[in-house]
Amino acid sequence: RSNGRLIVVSNRVPVPTASGAPAAGGLAVALQSALRSKGGIWFGWSGKASQEADREPQLRTLGSISFAVCDLTRRDIEEYYHGFANQALWPICHYRLDLARLSERDAAGYFRVNEFFARRLAKMLRPDDVIWIHDYHFIPMAAFLRQLGVQNRIGYFHHIPWPSPDTASAMPHYDRILRSFSSYDVVGFQTEPDADNFRDCLIESGAGRAVDGNWCEAYGRKFQVDAFPISIDAEAFALEARLAERNTLVKRMRASLEGRAMIIGVDRLDYSKGIKHRIEAFGAFLERYPEAAKARVTMLQITPKSRSEVPEYANIQNEVAEEVGHLNGKLGDIDWTPLRYINKTMSQSALAGLYRMARVGLVTPLRDGMNLVAKEYVAAQSPDDPGVLVLSQFAGAARELKSALIVNPYDIGATAAAIARAIEMPLEERQDRWRDMMATLRDNSIDHWTANCLQAISGESEADLEGS
Ligand code: UDP
Ligand code: G6P
Repeated sequence: RSNGRLIVVSNRVPVPTASGAPAAGGLAVALQSALRSKGGIWFGWSGKASQEADREPQLRTLGSISFAVCDLTRRDIEEYYHGFANQALWPICHYRLDLARLSERDAAGYFRVNEFFARRLAKMLRPDDVIWIHDYHFIPMAAFLRQLGVQNRIGYFHHIPWPSPDTASAMPHYDRILRSFSSYDVVGFQTEPDADNFRDCLIESGAGRAVDGNWCEAYGRKFQVDAFPISIDAEAFALEARLAERNTLVKRMRASLEGRAMIIGVDRLDYSKGIKHRIEAFGAFLERYPEAAKARVTMLQITPKSRSEVPEYANIQNEVAEEVGHLNGKLGDIDWTPLRYINKTMSQSALAGLYRMARVGLVTPLRDGMNLVAKEYVAAQSPDDPGVLVLSQFAGAARELKSALIVNPYDIGATAAAIARAIEMPLEERQDRWRDMMATLRDNSIDHWTANCLQAISGESEADLEGS
């Protein structure tokens, strides 16, 4: 309906760099696919710190995407990004109240930086632009835009889980955060349970009510609240995986395996990913299933460091490194390192080739909004000899990839048993499970997700409702 520009807003913006370093993280990967095909403006943080004076957006156009990014001051980064976003909202949304740190200074910084970005964005807007804001860093952005008189359609998508009211209400300034959502026209979540939790928060706090199925009325506004499960371009990823057989890194990995089966894990180094539990489960598999493990199965864990300045992330980095050392020391041999642990960010192409080589994809987060790695692992498999996905019941992806071996990641014994079952699974069963999951991915591709979200944000579904 609208012929206006698409303006995507997110804290992390993967502006292409001279070194071409890829961005790890589902938001950047998914929005890159979405924007490549639609074109538009991508507005947000440059990832850099600078002084107060020179913080106007820097512009750069590449292909169909124009990037407009602002620097933040050190204090902003500390309070808004390391502080409120990653030490309050992130742990609370991942059900880790024990790790949440609540600080008034950080909360003030969060709202201040949202207003800062809103002011700069407002100056760039045309009346028919569609604005699509992403993730927990920017929940109050629309409220500030509305205060500045912006009347455009504005949608929000929450990439991480939204917890039930008893947990969500631990958020500092909970009422203000909840109220902020009512400035959007559409609020999207990864799964139905997340959207239900959010509606429950509005209802239990007395702020509003659910109306007409997926709509809410709260704080004097009516807006759509829905689940839009994010995805990948499965066909493109499958092609990438086929081509990656020629990638030098992939060839090196294959040669070094000397015919041994491989298990792969790929995660940002984050406590929500369950990496410690996973390593323990791999150790238990090696010890308890000598028959399955006899061929000296090798696990490759690719784990780029993330948010290292946040103390909880520094801790988990040490803890995982220690766990890796223990496992290899205890179970390795002079000519076999059971667990290869790497803190480098890999390109999507190298990852695609490595997934395809792996007999098992081990994706065991303790909580995850969706988890794109699970979907990428499936898309990368060869139809003739596909590997097996072992997937946590606490990843949003488990609601779609039902033919994975679904595990409770806290249950080390059950995860070890699932690894053994995956290693020994007959070809026919692997193919059946893979075909089922691949069909699901083809049915809900990233293009589908983008189209559904944008249709809702631009108000087309409302027009349909009114017309019916
Ligand atoms: N990723 C990458 N290189 C790496 C590690 C991860 O490109 O070395 C990508 C990965 O392919 C996936 C994304 O980062 O697309 C991670 O998304 P996911 O939803 O699994 O988790 P998140 O990091 O968003 O919590
Ligand atoms: C998750 C979040 C994203 C974030 C990404 C990487 O995917 O949902 O918003 O961009 O992690 O984290 P970072 O803090 O490096 O942007």
